[in-house]
Amino acid sequence: MESINVELGQRSYPIYIGENLLEQATLLNKHIKNSKCAVITNPTVKELYWSSLEKVFDEPPLLITLEDGEQHKNLDTLNIIFTQLLENFFDRKSTLIALGGGVIGDMTGFAAACYQRGIDFIQIPTTLLSQVDSSVGGKTAVNHPLGKNMVGAFHQPIAVISDTSSLKTLPSRELSAGLAEVIKYGFINDIDFLHWLEKNMPDLLSLDNKAMTYAIKKSCEIKADIVARDETEQSVRALLNLGHTFGHAIETFTEYKTYLHGECVGIGMVMAAEFSHRLNLISKSDCELSKKIIASANLPTQPPADMSKDIFIELMMRDKKTLNNNIRLVLLEKLGGAFVSSDYDPDILANYLDQVHQR
Ligand code: NAD
Ligand code: GLY
Repeated sequence: MESINVELGQRSYPIYIGENLLEQATLLNKHIKNSKCAVITNPTVKELYWSSLEKVFDEPPLLITLEDGEQHKNLDTLNIIFTQLLENFFDRKSTLIALGGGVIGDMTGFAAACYQRGIDFIQIPTTLLSQVDSSVGGKTAVNHPLGKNMVGAFHQPIAVISDTSSLKTLPSRELSAGLAEVIKYGFINDIDFLHWLEKNMPDLLSLDNKAMTYAIKKSCEIKADIVARDETEQSVRALLNLGHTFGHAIETFTEYKTYLHGECVGIGMVMAAEFSHRLNLISKSDCELSKKIIASANLPTQPPADMSKDIFIELMMRDKKTLNNNIRLVLLEKLGGAFVSSDYDPDILANYLDQVHQR
């Protein structure tokens, strides 16, 4: 088992990464206070992993099973959690455990942030995306009809337990979507990791455990370092949004129905690399290499053909990073180095988006 620490003073916590961790009772139990505990999951994950996790508890925990899917990540579902916690007399020493992907993790974390003004929670992420990104860093939220993740809080978990064995049941599209976030860490922070990914992508796609554990650990190390420096996204944490401004525009345009989030991040990272090349920040060959690595994870690299420049710009204006009508983008200054900027000629962006639309 690998273990790394997210250094946040009194709110520091470990991330454990390895095979069959779900079945290791001491790993979970040492983080649970002597009070009530609830496991929050969905029917898909419950069917696959509840029987393994159930065995590690001395006393059976409350099991809360929510509907599966992003469309249920809302305040109504959160209320279901609160009602069950109140009906079962959960108190301030109680612990919530998220067993599932990012949707379950974000909702459990937000429920823990709010219930009695904040209780402990543990992340047991079961998708690659949640193991390398959403379970780490304490961003918790639900969606509002007017916007994704618009109601939330920063609330750090007390531990993250990433069982790499759970990835064996993950649909291949979900695996690739998680790989998009893994690739993101290479682009923003670590050229050597990017080259490692270029070489080892086939092993990751075939779930080679050594390669996968390394990729998850490396991703978590990079994220943990950024979160430790900027927990509430006042500066450097914004780099974790590489590809997301283009990607969110695609998700909104396609009404969250056509692509997974990570697929949109993949397309968005290709666009960020191409636009960085347009601005003469990176070379053509680096831009081509970026596209090649993303494609090698079986991710799409082209936005929908019917997304015009005007649609892109209108939707990108609504991005949380946009300030005073300036679309702020995470751009590449090199492979392995990124920065946030709105200091570019908007005509070059418009021209680039027009060209993308026409090809
Ligand atoms: P998800 O939670 O919807 O999981 C994807 C699908 O896989 C679901 O149907 C789920 O039931 C299923 N699943 C989960 N584990 C499985 C397994 N081991 N085997 C088979 N099926 C399994 O999606 P996700 O990609 O994990 O997370 C996406 C969410 O994460 C979004 O809501 C996004 O906003 C959020 N997110 C949050 C952060 C953050 O920092 N908090 C970062 C990135 C994404
Ligand atoms: N997923 C982006 C962040 O945690 O900041």
